[in-house]
Amino acid sequence: MMFPEYRPRRLRKTGAFRAMVRETTVSKDHLIYPIFVAPGKKLCQPIASMPGVFQMSVDTAVKEAREAYELGLPAVLLFGLPEKKDAKGSHAWIKSGVVQKAVSAIKKAVPDLMVITDVCLCEYTSHGHCGMLVKDKARGGDSVLIDNDATLELLQKVALSHARAGADMVAPSDMMDGRVGAIREALDENGYEQIPIMSYAVKYSSSFYGPFRDAAECAPQFGDRSSYQMDVANSREALREATLDMEEGADILMVKPGMPYLDIIGLLRQEFTLPIAAYQVSGEYAMIKAAAQNGWLDEKRVIHESLLCFRRAGADIIITYFAKDFAKSF
Ligand code: PBG
Repeated sequence: MMFPEYRPRRLRKTGAFRAMVRETTVSKDHLIYPIFVAPGKKLCQPIASMPGVFQMSVDTAVKEAREAYELGLPAVLLFGLPEKKDAKGSHAWIKSGVVQKAVSAIKKAVPDLMVITDVCLCEYTSHGHCGMLVKDKARGGDSVLIDNDATLELLQKVALSHARAGADMVAPSDMMDGRVGAIREALDENGYEQIPIMSYAVKYSSSFYGPFRDAAECAPQFGDRSSYQMDVANSREALREATLDMEEGADILMVKPGMPYLDIIGLLRQEFTLPIAAYQVSGEYAMIKAAAQNGWLDEKRVIHESLLCFRRAGADIIITYFAKDFAKSF
């Protein structure tokens, strides 16, 4: 044996020693809790495919945010279900939009809770895509394309409306090219230099978003998002996407989905010094919940383990629907 004096197995026997040499920990300080805000009053509408997650009206969302804060969670991430959808997604940036109202109500009620907003159009467009559509002249007929650059202007408006409502950070999830730079510019020009951008830098075209599309009622009405989200098969592309977002001014880089993509989190951790966030998405939540409800998994332990694994892979921050459950038990 090479190092006979080193007996890891014997040392590992005591709990205190194990704790002392543990390489990774996870605490509620690392977690962001997503909330779906919908029109109405006293609304707390269960989402069938995400047991324990609800669509909430602004008043209910404020209560939920307060509870999250009192449990010791540092931040919430808001998604909106608008009153009306149209081709441009104009309810994404109106002052009286659900997210704008929720941001200011939460900041008023719980000023120390960080409020982050999802910046995207898919929940607001009648077609369910993340950008504006134009006719695809090359193909003709009914074919359409996403108009990347026209969408950037709309995303600037969305981010600005969130900042004006009092958001502490914006999180663009649309995957249009150049959006981080465009949003940074709009924020800076309007006196919001201090608002950071958490970019969904590496967002795959994943089937794990299925339940979210029920929750946010934003499934594309035709086609899919593969023209603007990343190919599941690629990892070098993740480095290119993350590099571009960093150069455009992203403050935090996000990888999404989470659990099947721990290798990508590890890769980014090695290559970048920016904070890295991971999104444990709706499908991951639904799988764990369904198994736990059947008694097939020990829910508490699996929640802890899955979040710890994100940290081991290199994530600083984890966005998870389990944030409150974790904060209650650990
Ligand atoms: C919207 C958006 C999605 C998610 C976050 N922002 C859905 C999508 O791209 O289809 C997914 C989150 C989840 O599944 O929990 N662009």
